[in-house]
Amino acid sequence: MESQAGDGGSVELDGAWLETLSPEPLLTRDYETRPSLVYERLRQRHGPVAPVDLLGVPAWLVLGYREALDVLQDDAGWPKGLENWRARSEGRVPADWPLGPSLEVNHVLIQGGPGYRPLRTAWDAALKPFQDPRHAQAKRLKTAVAAYADDLISLVGQAGGTGLADLSAQFSRPLPLMVASHLLGFPGSQGDDALMDMWRVLDAGPDAELALERLLAALAELAAVKLKQPGDDFPSYLLAAHPDLSLDQLARELFMLLGMTSDHVGILISNTVVEVISGEGGVRASLSAGMVRESMNRVVMRKPPLVNFVPRFAARDTPLGNYTIRAGDPVWVSSAAAHADPLFADKVAEGTAVSTRAHLAWGAGQRQCPARELASTVAAVGVGRLFERFSNLELALPVDQLPWRSSPFMRGLRSLPVRYELAAMPPQPSAHAPDAEAGDTAEAADGVRVEAGGAGGAVESADAADVVLPDSAVRQRSSLWRYLTGLIGVGR
Ligand code: HEM
Repeated sequence: MESQAGDGGSVELDGAWLETLSPEPLLTRDYETRPSLVYERLRQRHGPVAPVDLLGVPAWLVLGYREALDVLQDDAGWPKGLENWRARSEGRVPADWPLGPSLEVNHVLIQGGPGYRPLRTAWDAALKPFQDPRHAQAKRLKTAVAAYADDLISLVGQAGGTGLADLSAQFSRPLPLMVASHLLGFPGSQGDDALMDMWRVLDAGPDAELALERLLAALAELAAVKLKQPGDDFPSYLLAAHPDLSLDQLARELFMLLGMTSDHVGILISNTVVEVISGEGGVRASLSAGMVRESMNRVVMRKPPLVNFVPRFAARDTPLGNYTIRAGDPVWVSSAAAHADPLFADKVAEGTAVSTRAHLAWGAGQRQCPARELASTVAAVGVGRLFERFSNLELALPVDQLPWRSSPFMRGLRSLPVRYELAAMPPQPSAHAPDAEAGDTAEAADGVRVEAGGAGGAVESADAADVVLPDSAVRQRSSLWRYLTGLIGVGR
């Protein structure tokens, strides 16, 4: 039987087993530079679902918006869990497959099976204090983010009131790392070494394996401390909600939180900054109207940080797009490709049937991101401070020459070179600043207690919203701070 695929060729439906299709490699130089062209080529050739080769392992890539929703909203038909992967059970996934290490750590994002539901419920409970705007923890987090952002901006400014900076290395990457340390309840800046190991793991350089070992050991140590002495932090909340978690399991969940926070949120911040300063899509205008959240919603639609989701597996032979996906075949939903599907892109452009909230940047269905509010708040507060403290920010490279990192999962900048001009008087976070509706305020000085309730004053409990920043002596000892100090004036 033959079927028309996309606008172009046709495909043989019967007998089209993934293994026999000799799919083309996805992660090519083309993909790194212009992923949208690669998605379009695949759509033309195969329709909404295409066979691809992921570094030597065949998989289905879901490019269609409707098909992506079909998969994401049917957890029983398309479960996660590597135990469901036929080729892996049959020993056909090479032991040294480069994507193995990131998929074989069994935590909530990857897991399927009966252990998943209680784990997800515990995640929701443990994140709630940080996401519920009425909760003291959520207020404290926002205050802390503004303070960290101010500290980082002041450090950039040590090179002079105007200059060049790499806002990725000096702002978008370290800010979420400081937030992760706050969420994990690392005392002072003691966790810095461990946290910086996360960068080594994400950058997958020669020291990545050792860094991963050190990081997991540090997180296991932290987990053991929190078991003995629970605090007001994510590990303690997760343990309280799921007392059966072993220390090893808890360490893996903390690793997951650290990775998601430091990588995804950093990418969201950089992508938002680029959109704002390159003026694409009228974002600058909406930012000045104080609508950072709305701008970010558009940014994640145009440039979702997680471009390809971790795999699901067909529970049984199931038709999808122009193919029949065999039981146990891996299926990767591509949010980036689905957002470019005319079914979605055209409707959004017309502003009719599909609202911008229908995008897939946070996933869809039961396994949607549980930390959407937290991640958006961190990014919005950070971006807000950036555009308040700098009176001018310009890209130091044409937008189409910015260097992108190649990754099967993410799309983020390698660096974000900018020309900056600091505002003469550092403005305080104001009532109209993004996410400052509770009146949070933060001073950017070492060793000071930062109080909420400044501009708007409408804070339920000033005590609850206090946050203590490390003093300058602690900062001097912090490896993260020493690293950042070394970057001052990098662009000169
Ligand atoms: C800009 C930042 C972020 C983006 C764009 C993002 C996006 C996503 C997406 C698309 C998924 C669904 C993946 C899938 O269906 O396979 C997901 C799942 C998840 N995210 Fe996020 N995320 C972000 C930040 C975070 C942060 C900061 C945390 C933790 C504090 C987090 C925790 C999780 C967890 C635990 C899951 C798994 C949910 C499940 O399978 O039930 N995310 N995220």
